Amino acid sequence: MRIAMVAPEAVPYAKTGGLADVVGALQRGMNIKGHDCSMFLPCYERIQNNHDIKQILSGLRVNVGDRTYYYNVFSLDGAYFIANDFFFNRSGLYGDSRGDFPDNAERFAFFCKAVLQTQSTLGIVPEIYHVHDWQTGLLPFYLDQDSSYGHDTRSVLTIHNAGYQGVFPPSAMTSIGASKEHFRIDSLEFNGNISLLKAGIVYSDSVTTVSPTYAREITETSLGYGLEGLLSAKGVKGILNGIDYDLWDPSTDTSIHINYDVGKRSKGKSACKKHLCKILDMNDPALPVIGVIGRFSWQKGYDIIAGSLTKIISMGFNVVILGSGDLEIERSLRDIAVKFPGRVSVNIGFNDALARNIYAGSDLFLMPSRYEPCGLAQMIAMSYGSIPVVRHTGGLADTIKDHRPSRSSGTGFIFRKDDSISLLRCLGRALKAYNDRTVWQRLTKNSMMKRFTWDYAIDQYIDVYSSENRVSMN
Ligand code: GLC
Repeated sequence: MRIAMVAPEAVPYAKTGGLADVVGALQRGMNIKGHDCSMFLPCYERIQNNHDIKQILSGLRVNVGDRTYYYNVFSLDGAYFIANDFFFNRSGLYGDSRGDFPDNAERFAFFCKAVLQTQSTLGIVPEIYHVHDWQTGLLPFYLDQDSSYGHDTRSVLTIHNAGYQGVFPPSAMTSIGASKEHFRIDSLEFNGNISLLKAGIVYSDSVTTVSPTYAREITETSLGYGLEGLLSAKGVKGILNGIDYDLWDPSTDTSIHINYDVGKRSKGKSACKKHLCKILDMNDPALPVIGVIGRFSWQKGYDIIAGSLTKIISMGFNVVILGSGDLEIERSLRDIAVKFPGRVSVNIGFNDALARNIYAGSDLFLMPSRYEPCGLAQMIAMSYGSIPVVRHTGGLADTIKDHRPSRSSGTGFIFRKDDSISLLRCLGRALKAYNDRTVWQRLTKNSMMKRFTWDYAIDQYIDVYSSENRVSMN
């Protein structure tokens, strides 16, 4: 099939989160399977600076509302970059230290329209536009409004996080080029504002999200953040993300202390753990180490971690944290680290090599997310034999099987409530298992052998692309 993947970020070009990994892997996987899948991204400053992209079109013009924008198109390896310096030659993707860019509606409206315009100019009509998250939600809208962009072309929206909806004041209607008649509840209007994610849901042919449980949660509960009714009427298919096991393999990873596979996991992990403790000044490698990596936010439950940390240490765990985000959470984590030198290590920022050393050197991997559309870190942790301790939500519920003393198939530990007591109780169960060598060996083996491959996910997307049953919202 001829597919155009349209996203605000993708590896290896621009990344702020898991979305980028998923879009990059999807495009690669589609092409490996013999589909003709191109990718469209905004040409951010970091892409111009770090990649050898070639200009293929210049001086193109697109109208959005009553504005005319000029742009150029660059390309590299099947990816196309829409370049307009005014909108995209900035160091941040969506904002800077002052917050979100105030012209995000215009920026991404322009991007969506320019993608459609570029395809027309190139004379390419894809069978499918596969768009991702609110930033690309207007593409299905423009496609619906102007059939010259592809009469039979369908669009599929994947929601990676329904908590981010691209909500703008009604005045943005003009700058995105939507006529007044679309300020309606069955079109772009959303609680007196407009929502670009909603535009994508209403005007795409199908909506998917990144795990079956999250698909249920955003149609049935408040995790739809006000869109649950619409999503449930439209129907959402949950397709679990995969990870690329060539990139996340402890037997070949050049960043970790020594390589190991499932057969040599005991020796390998204990050497990697000693190394981790050494580089982070942790004082007793005999204690079980909990790894934590990610964005410090309420969504990811970092406030629960901060509130439980002192008790976690008194239970006998060491804790290694890597990430950044909410400044208050950052401060409280740091304060605790100062109180417990050698027991808690808090590392602010992102550092790929350190992340890999944490996956390899930790015994347990903690993700107490309040919601988690899919989550990639738990899958990576499993591949490195670090046992996930997670809340029962979204993709975490779909990827981990809770350990029970009575069954041998567990791969991690699951708790239900988003509070400290439940987290600590769950860690108590994990500690008991950790102290039983046979049980722990089985858990690490089960985890390391579990596979979440892209192959299966891609077949499911192709199914969605091919399905004829467009749900009409009118
Ligand atoms: C978002 C979600 C995360 C998911 C990722 C890729 O970042 O928060 O759960 O794994 O998108 O789909």
